[in-house]
Amino acid sequence: MSIPMSQFQAWMKSTQVEFEIALAHLLPASTRLPTRLHEAMRYAALDGGKRVRPLLVFAAGRLFDAPISLLTRAAAALEMIHAYSLVHDDMPCMDDDALRRGKPTVHVKYDEATALLVGDALQAQAFLVLAEGDASAECKLSMLQLLARAAGSTGMCGGQAIDLASVGLALKLDELEQMHRLKTGALLSASVLMGAMSGKALSDTEVSALDAYSNAIGLAFQVVDDVLDATADSATLGKTAGKDAVDNKPTYVSLLGLEASCALAEKLCHDAHQALLPFGEKAQLLRDLADLIVQRKA
Ligand code: IPE
Ligand code: IPE
Ligand code: MG
Ligand code: MG
Ligand code: MG
Repeated sequence: MSIPMSQFQAWMKSTQVEFEIALAHLLPASTRLPTRLHEAMRYAALDGGKRVRPLLVFAAGRLFDAPISLLTRAAAALEMIHAYSLVHDDMPCMDDDALRRGKPTVHVKYDEATALLVGDALQAQAFLVLAEGDASAECKLSMLQLLARAAGSTGMCGGQAIDLASVGLALKLDELEQMHRLKTGALLSASVLMGAMSGKALSDTEVSALDAYSNAIGLAFQVVDDVLDATADSATLGKTAGKDAVDNKPTYVSLLGLEASCALAEKLCHDAHQALLPFGEKAQLLRDLADLIVQRKA
């Protein structure tokens, strides 16, 4: 007998299905020149991944009655930046991984130069998708700034630089936290804020509540990623398990151990729930997403 889907699972499934169709439309067609590059961009971005960043955009957007058309572009832009970060993260000059989202990584399936260009082109496409939407000029500008900050040297790229420079080092807890907040937390926070700002104007209290929520889930996400790298298998993860220890990367697991890392993830989840209190019942999707981020098995 099949177990009925919860309301949250049903929302997640339908959002993922609709988002996949929208993302496919917002990427260049694989028949368009240069076809190999466009095909590789679509290989990297479509048909895989949990789509956590888009889900955060749609959940935060619902809280502020944001139109779906704006949310879709924000979600696609974030997922394009995220997909590009994964393509580059897997390259031999970074983590040197052969498996991603259950498929060969882009540099393995195509070649290294193509992987480099796929990342570059996905990043440009992300900003194009935001710039071309039908949001107000003011809203677009704010989103473009927010995404650029979250993706660049003060966000994801900065975190990746610290990650690479930290191989074999025993980072202090605050240094590790900073690295994780940048490499992973920044884009997750941006997802929540871009979703929210697609809707009605936010009060200062709402902005600080969302900040607190997104900071908590942003860090929790990478803590759990570190835990899963050490505890799950490659088939479940769709990427090579056990790679952090082999590569001598400082992680929450290497610094605190498994038990304390899981406890920290739980504490961050609790913080995320606390941060949402001012929104009451209306924030249930964001609450469920915090739980998903901490309880996920892949
Ligand atoms: C993996 O991100 C890389 C990190 C930032 C930890 P996800 O776990 O969201 O990867 P996908 O999108 O589901 O493949
Ligand atoms: C990478 O962190 C975060 C990115 C910005 C892509 P990881 O290197 O731990 O991500 P995975 O484990 O390969 O997905
Ligand atoms: Mg990495
Ligand atoms: Mg990696
Ligand atoms: Mg990892």
